[in-house]
Amino acid sequence: MKKSSLSTFPIVVAGVCLAVFVITAEAVKISHPKYIKGSSNTIPGRYIISFSGAQPDSGTIFTQSFTKQFKDAGLKVKENFKHDFFNGISVDLDNTDNSIHTAALKAILDRSDVKAVYPVRTIARPKVTLESQGSSKTPSVLPHAMTQVDRVHSELKNKGKGIFVGVLDTGVDYLHPALGGGFGKSFKVIKGYDLVGDAYTGFNTPKPDNDPLDDCGADSEASGHGTHVSGIIAGYDKSTNFTGVAPEAKLGMWRVFGCKGSVSNDVVIKALLMAYDAGVDVINLSLGETNSWSTTTDVEASVVNKIARKGVSVVVSAGNSGAKGIYTVGQPSTSVDAFSVASVENSYYVSKDLKATGIDHDILYTASNDDSKFANGEVVYGDMSGANGAEGCTSGSIDSAVSGKIALIQRGTCPFSDKVNNAVSAGAIGVIIYNNVAGALTASVPGVTVPVISISNADGKALLAALKAGTVKVTLNKKGSIQPIENANTISTFSSTGSSSELNFKPNIAGIGGNVYSTLPRYLDSYGVMSGTSMAAPYVAGSVALYLNSEGKNKKQSIAYINEQFQNYAYTTKVFNTTKVDSPIRQGAGLVQVYDTITQKTHISPAQISFNDTSTSKYKTQIITITNYGIETMQYEIVNEIAISVSPYNVKASGYTPIEPAANSDAAAKLRFSKKSFKLAPGKSQKIKVTVTPPKTDPKDHIFYGGFIHVKSKQPSKGKDLKVPYFGVAGKQKELPIFDSGFPTIIDAKNKEYGKDDTFTFDRSNSTNAPISVLRLLTPSPQIKAELLDYKTSKVLGQFLTGLDYVGRNFLTGDKLYYQFAWDGTYVPASISQAPLPIAAIDGIYKFRFTALKLLGNPKNKNDWEFWTSGPIAVKN
Ligand SMILES: *[C@@H]1O[C@H](CO)[C@@H](O)[C@H](O)[C@H]1NC(C)=O
Ligand SMILES: *[C@@H]1O[C@H](CO)[C@@H](O)[C@H](O)[C@H]1NC(C)=O
Ligand SMILES: *[C@@H]1O[C@H](CO)[C@@H](O)[C@H](O)[C@H]1NC(C)=O
Ligand SMILES: *[C@@H]1O[C@H](CO)[C@@H](O)[C@H](O)[C@H]1NC(C)=O
Ligand SMILES: *[C@@H]1O[C@H](CO)[C@@H](O)[C@H](O)[C@H]1NC(C)=O
Repeated sequence: MKKSSLSTFPIVVAGVCLAVFVITAEAVKISHPKYIKGSSNTIPGRYIISFSGAQPDSGTIFTQSFTKQFKDAGLKVKENFKHDFFNGISVDLDNTDNSIHTAALKAILDRSDVKAVYPVRTIARPKVTLESQGSSKTPSVLPHAMTQVDRVHSELKNKGKGIFVGVLDTGVDYLHPALGGGFGKSFKVIKGYDLVGDAYTGFNTPKPDNDPLDDCGADSEASGHGTHVSGIIAGYDKSTNFTGVAPEAKLGMWRVFGCKGSVSNDVVIKALLMAYDAGVDVINLSLGETNSWSTTTDVEASVVNKIARKGVSVVVSAGNSGAKGIYTVGQPSTSVDAFSVASVENSYYVSKDLKATGIDHDILYTASNDDSKFANGEVVYGDMSGANGAEGCTSGSIDSAVSGKIALIQRGTCPFSDKVNNAVSAGAIGVIIYNNVAGALTASVPGVTVPVISISNADGKALLAALKAGTVKVTLNKKGSIQPIENANTISTFSSTGSSSELNFKPNIAGIGGNVYSTLPRYLDSYGVMSGTSMAAPYVAGSVALYLNSEGKNKKQSIAYINEQFQNYAYTTKVFNTTKVDSPIRQGAGLVQVYDTITQKTHISPAQISFNDTSTSKYKTQIITITNYGIETMQYEIVNEIAISVSPYNVKASGYTPIEPAANSDAAAKLRFSKKSFKLAPGKSQKIKVTVTPPKTDPKDHIFYGGFIHVKSKQPSKGKDLKVPYFGVAGKQKELPIFDSGFPTIIDAKNKEYGKDDTFTFDRSNSTNAPISVLRLLTPSPQIKAELLDYKTSKVLGQFLTGLDYVGRNFLTGDKLYYQFAWDGTYVPASISQAPLPIAAIDGIYKFRFTALKLLGNPKNKNDWEFWTSGPIAVKN
């Protein structure tokens, strides 16, 4: 890491980690075998309690007796789960007095009817980019030819009829004409529930009702995410021909987000259970945390796995952090039984264009809000001060000459809406915003009173030049035209990179998530283009619905089999602008090909391989089984189709500082097959032993190699090729350092750093001067111990922080730059084994020790731990 970045420590105030991006150490420290520490974003005072028995009344019995015993704990029940998959409740302990709170929590933990207690966490709203909004007049272009969905509709006459897809999201505008125009049995959205209400933010109390309608309104900052996703899965509008993946499927919406903000995991668990109980066939989930561990102690991951094992397909987006390099796939898509979806770029998008007098080419534009009322007419340069980069940002900065005309304004310095509102005050009837850097601009400007469009920097400059030469009038072609996308059929740059921290194969598959046109709530002008793995997951959920429909009433195959079949026949994507195959840790098995998946009769299991790293030879040889379920004898030949390798680090140049995004290299593994070609009669299986020789790259580089076992059909007219993606690491993950150089470190509230020789004086009467530990992890760690030591004797007194299990890695930029924890002066003593309560450190001199278990390390092996010890910390009470 660069030491200069120390100056960018986020400000921390008053002894609490304010910034929402950090893992907040639990407000309450308690060490108890039944207390399952979560690793991130816990909500102080809120817990999920799971009961040991299966009595339906466990929650009521618990609440009655506990409330009698502990009146002043302020126990309030939030959610009651009562389910075969999870018997528990979530509660608030409202009393913020630390000792009462902790005593109450200990009493809960000591009860025999309580199996475990988990702190409640928040899960952020999925991030998507709203590329543009359109009116219903835009041509409807869901890219179904790329995925063979068009052939499933036309040749197989399969549009997903009778399949029920459940969605956990921001609600849905079911009054939208493409989403059925109503709610209930006779409509498209047949079931659902609003678990939270408009005003819910993830931290306040949900106000549920039985209507999942999204009518947040244009001024609410709501994104219309759930409506967009619903359209991708099952939208259909006869008048515009807009067609989702499974336009005859039915939808259920369990609304878990308010108009803004995040959601707490107890609400998500409740929604998952409600969707399961409503009988959904497929659940599409878009919740993510950028933490690549498959192993988690979280209840929702366990509920996801239980639902999947009951035969419901759980399709989850991989995440949108691909720009941050490896280990960026997020939970719960990392759950072993979830189908984790990467994003592929669409092949075309709808671009609108305009003609301007004095300019000899058509100018492409994006509608930044509803452009249907954009009147053709004269354009005036909006800024009086000349191109100064801050155009239109102050109320007086717009020329009154724009009155009654269209204002041309450059992007930069302030929000688009400020510029537009200032132009409106000066009388403008429309605004064109041009980019201030090279390239096209796809601004979204909802909630203003005039239509706005955005154009590229080059076209903005061309308009400026034309204005200098004379009067310029623009004429918009609002219908738009279809333009090719340069990086079509490649993995989106935002799509998260695998694998899971344990080297489980993730992501598993890809859908189309870059530039996806779909429905928006009517208050956001009904249609628009969004990008995100959030768009790719519903694309795959709709595809699974088509598969399930093709099986008819008596379902034959397990979800695991169906997922494999999708992987067997997926389309292998290439690296943009090259002929090289992209890595399976970016594309999974590749882009779904739904027609082949449904119609082809040969199947391979397993459908993905992790050869793990080189610390053991245990995973070097694996067996795949190829089975012919068709009626003709098939003949196959097996070859190794090499993909590019992914280089996470440039060890020579910068040590183990991660490369973000990860770089590509040509290193390739060799595969040996026990048989290279074979015949397969109907009903027969062939086992093939596959043995890997990883590339001979420097093991310090820890590159992720990969490719596809390509099972080539010798009779393409009878059956298609199949592929099994594989990956592995050339190197030993447990040799990777955990802490970035210069970390951990101790700072104070003013960002001053304390070295090993500096004494940090902590006067506990003033919580603003608490020592703050700052950690930056180069690689994920399964366990970090935070111990308080006597400075002189180095005796371990106890833990000063808890909950640091299955921690994800940090990034070089953005909101996971560091983890930081302010110390409140207490610790859980080491000497008492059962349920010790935290106690205050008495006056004296201490030091902190962080001990991190290395990735894939053995906790029993001392060499697999890395530790760091602070300088003296003097405590005064
Ligand atoms: C929808 O598709 C039909 C049949 O292909 C076509 O006749 C009709 O013009 C299309 N409608 C629109 C609005 O594009
Ligand atoms: C479907 O999943 C995607 C990604 O996981 C998510 O963004 C979207 O909101 C989900 N849609 C529904 C309807 O749950
Ligand atoms: C890889 O190997 C480690 C042990 O070195 C093991 O803990 C881990 O589960 C393995 N991962 C997979 C996907 O098999
Ligand atoms: C694609 O490759 C060609 C030839 O190597 C190169 O000239 C061009 O700049 C590349 N385009 C992009 C967008 O990288
Ligand atoms: C509390 O500590 C902060 C940070 O060291 C210091 O700026 C402030 O003056 C202290 N307040 C009091 C009341 O001592």
